[in-house]
Amino acid sequence: MYLTLGSDNFNNVLAEESECIGFIKMDSKIINQRGYGVNEIPHECNKIVIEHSIDFMNYFLFYQHNIDILSKYEVTISNLNAPGIETPFWTLFSDYNRIAELTQGYLTLGDVSGIITLVLEGINRNKLENIRALEIGSWTGFSSYFISKTINTYSVNNKLTCVDTWGDVSGSAPRGSYADYVDVLHLFRSVSKGLNTSNLIRSMAMTSFEALNVLRDDIYNFIFIDGDHRYQATYYEILYSILKAKIGAVIFGHDYRHYNNALLKPDKEIIELNKNEHITYIDGREFEMGVIAAVDEIFEGNAKLVTHSSVWYKEITQEDKDRAKFLISQLENDPIKQIG
Ligand SMILES: C[S@@+](CC[C@H](N)C(=O)[O-])C[C@H]1O[C@@H](n2cnc3c(N)ncnc32)[C@H](O)[C@@H]1O
Repeated sequence: MYLTLGSDNFNNVLAEESECIGFIKMDSKIINQRGYGVNEIPHECNKIVIEHSIDFMNYFLFYQHNIDILSKYEVTISNLNAPGIETPFWTLFSDYNRIAELTQGYLTLGDVSGIITLVLEGINRNKLENIRALEIGSWTGFSSYFISKTINTYSVNNKLTCVDTWGDVSGSAPRGSYADYVDVLHLFRSVSKGLNTSNLIRSMAMTSFEALNVLRDDIYNFIFIDGDHRYQATYYEILYSILKAKIGAVIFGHDYRHYNNALLKPDKEIIELNKNEHITYIDGREFEMGVIAAVDEIFEGNAKLVTHSSVWYKEITQEDKDRAKFLISQLENDPIKQIG
């Protein structure tokens, strides 16, 4: 019988099939009855298992806060599939507060943990060098910082291409008024310069459709999508990103659901009904239905979610590429091809 470190993945498995009896919590905000405080570990627990990036993140937080649980139990890292990522993970992740403050970005700890882990795992799994990453939607560069730094963990000269209008498309820039009085592209470039990531990043100030129209197919190892968020635009962005990705690449994106695990995902009918809205509120919670609908439709429910985050991801297969080509061939009006 085991506990995980902070991840309530317990919800995702059938209890009777799992030896997981819950998780050790250090964050009292976690809503789950299976969360045990560090001083109330049940006696039937004989090990601690790290199953997800969020467990991994907590593993380090426990160390940082001198929580001694780890020395009393056997700790195993189960499905991270990436031995050796602990040190780079922690080096990168410990920058979270500094970068959050500088960029005023909205990624949570879980989001950043997920982004770093997905990229480190992808690099290790495929022993990648000469890495090419693409980001659609960079804003002031919060995610860009972590992606560009992470792809350069084990080898150098790896580049991230950042695509954003940086405020020139109405309705799609976040926290709209901010873009009215700040030159966001200037801010993005200043932040990259100050953080020494300018040489790791190439910026393309244009719409995602314009960029996807000119970028080459089959060259990217990682593609992060955090751009328009509305259903139709996200649908095209993902479909074309699949063409741009290599087989085995990871496509991932933000805002797949609200962060609150108490409501993992709205019902299918509600998603369908609201998918063309920019943001839908349910019980005061904010959902980007367009993102959820587009991801589910294209990957037919096979995309995954990083626990305790809003980050969805899918490792790209030949079948994904064939399906994307097929879906594109079915489009009556293809706004990306129409750019010419
Ligand atoms: C939520 S923000 C991205 C946040 C960023 N990833 C971070 O970590 O802080 C969305 C960004 O997408 C950009 N955007 C929205 N629609 C776009 C489009 N059609 N083409 C290119 N960029 C777009 C906006 O200008 C905005 O900077």
